[in-house]
Amino acid sequence: MDRTDHDEVALRSRKAALRRQLAASRNRTPQHERDAAGRSIRDAVLSLPEIQMAGTVAAYMSVGTEPDTRGLVYALWKRGTYVLLPLLQADGDLDWASYEGPDSLAPGPRGLLEPTEPRRGVTAVTSADLVIVPALAVDRAGLRLGRGGGSYDRALARVGAAVPTVALIYDDELVDEVPAGPFDQPVRMVARPRQGITRLR
Ligand SMILES: Nc1ncnc2c1ncn2[C@@H]1O[C@H](COP(=O)(O)OP(=O)(O)O)[C@@H](O)[C@H]1O
Ligand SMILES: [Mg+2]
Repeated sequence: MDRTDHDEVALRSRKAALRRQLAASRNRTPQHERDAAGRSIRDAVLSLPEIQMAGTVAAYMSVGTEPDTRGLVYALWKRGTYVLLPLLQADGDLDWASYEGPDSLAPGPRGLLEPTEPRRGVTAVTSADLVIVPALAVDRAGLRLGRGGGSYDRALARVGAAVPTVALIYDDELVDEVPAGPFDQPVRMVARPRQGITRLR
């Protein structure tokens, strides 16, 4: 094993250890607290000036112990914003299709709810004026730790540098540093239940 392989293995195991720790902490949070967190985050994100200007927003449907995004996605759509939601591909990349209300969703892989509208391709995310992504943790430089598929690293790599990007996390998940490698893409903001929006970098 050469030096690069060794570093990669070390990085992967540091990320995995942090994911386990963060997932355990989310599991300990009662459901009513997670629901309340989802509502607070929804209000914080909806009050962002950038989202009020946005014609198209790329978002996602929360799964498991993530802060609930159903209310946020619905509110954006009700407002007349064009909302794109991801479809997880077999290779881990994200395709995108439009959200046309709660009936335009169907169960996808890994417990995900996915849009049933026509697929627009992996590059459709470039049409978003603002991008909302999940994370298990984000650091002060905006680097995020995801669930380990690298899906949002690929999606965010296609998004222009001037496009606002927001990760939705719980209050204690903005940390000093997350382990990161060359693939990892930063976000420009986080939204948290109590602290609201924090701009990074
Ligand atoms: N731009 C990319 N192109 C191809 N594969 C990528 C890209 N970004 C990430 N990946 C793959 O995703 C894997 C997991 O990435 P990682 O950052 O650990 O996950 P996450 O961001 O979900 O926490 C990487 O080891 C890499 O193989
Ligand atoms: Mg990553």
